Amino acid sequence: MTVAVVGPGAIGTVVAAALRERGLAPSLHGRTAREHLELIVDDERIQVPGPVRTDPQQAQGPVDLVFLAVKATQIADAAPWLAALCGAETVVCVLQNGVEQVASIEPLAQGADVLPAVVWFPAQRQEDGAVWLRGQARLTVPDGDAGRRVADALRDTLCSVELSDAFASLAWRKLLQNAVAGLMALTGRRSGMFRRPDIAELSLAYLRECLAVARAEGAVLDDAVPDEILAAFQTYPEDLGTSILADRDAGRPLEWDIRNGVISRLARTHGIPTPISDAVAALLAATSDGPG
Ligand SMILES: NC(=O)c1ccc[n+]([C@@H]2O[C@H](COP(=O)([O-])OP(=O)(O)OC[C@H]3O[C@@H](n4cnc5c(N)ncnc54)[C@H](OP(=O)(O)O)[C@@H]3O)[C@@H](O)[C@H]2O)c1
Repeated sequence: MTVAVVGPGAIGTVVAAALRERGLAPSLHGRTAREHLELIVDDERIQVPGPVRTDPQQAQGPVDLVFLAVKATQIADAAPWLAALCGAETVVCVLQNGVEQVASIEPLAQGADVLPAVVWFPAQRQEDGAVWLRGQARLTVPDGDAGRRVADALRDTLCSVELSDAFASLAWRKLLQNAVAGLMALTGRRSGMFRRPDIAELSLAYLRECLAVARAEGAVLDDAVPDEILAAFQTYPEDLGTSILADRDAGRPLEWDIRNGVISRLARTHGIPTPISDAVAALLAATSDGPG
């Protein structure tokens, strides 16, 4: 099986290391040239041989399987990699948050089979360029031929893969978590803030709007989901952040549209009023993109 990783950052490095463990030698395609990648798991440092190629004209495709792990804000810039690496027989597994992976990647993927994934684990880039895996690496993908190709590529490695026939509902549940975590990027505070009664009340009201949109889109999620998500944030360590807050702290563009804007956009197509979502999305958009 020929495999490529596009976007060898936090998530891409974990998957690249797992592919190596499986005996596959993924080609690495990124923005910053590097000799190798480095993954920190517990006390061990695992090197993943490179190089990280940065010129799409050097890409040798089509390949059997592409893992796309750029941020949603970087998709347009990564399009030349997809053009070079994809063909009609390729599976592109999109390792990104949100519920719109197929719609955003399919037009760029040369007829490839685009497979969304839910990424369940936290991974952080360190100042020295290494990536710290902070939890059990785990993906969920839709059950089917494309999902089985991904599961096969990562079998018996540090990154487990679950095949799900309820993928859309799982992806929506994760999106609700991501949406409410966006409030941290507005306050500049971490999970501890959800213990405040006023923030808890706001979060529940926001999550209930999100739940109505999720259900209108076909997700099967029960009434308890908003309370469960809030309770989880309230029990996390007070200083646990979220990637959209890390991006804000670093002055990078925010994935506000796929994590928050999507709720209001889809709500409009169903005629569902979402005043809290509309306010949150506008504030995050301005935080990310200015002007000012
Ligand atoms: N990290 C997590 O814990 C986590 C958990 C769940 C879901 N996710 C989601 O997973 C996705 C990836 O996140 P991440 O945290 O892995 O991001 P990341 O660490 O910023 O990695 C993105 C990688 O893409 C590279 N890149 C940027 N532009 C590119 C281009 N034009 N062509 C090729 N590569 C390019 C970046 O290069 P540089 O090295 O030059 O920046 C970087 O290596 C996001 O949607 C995120 O929300 C992340």
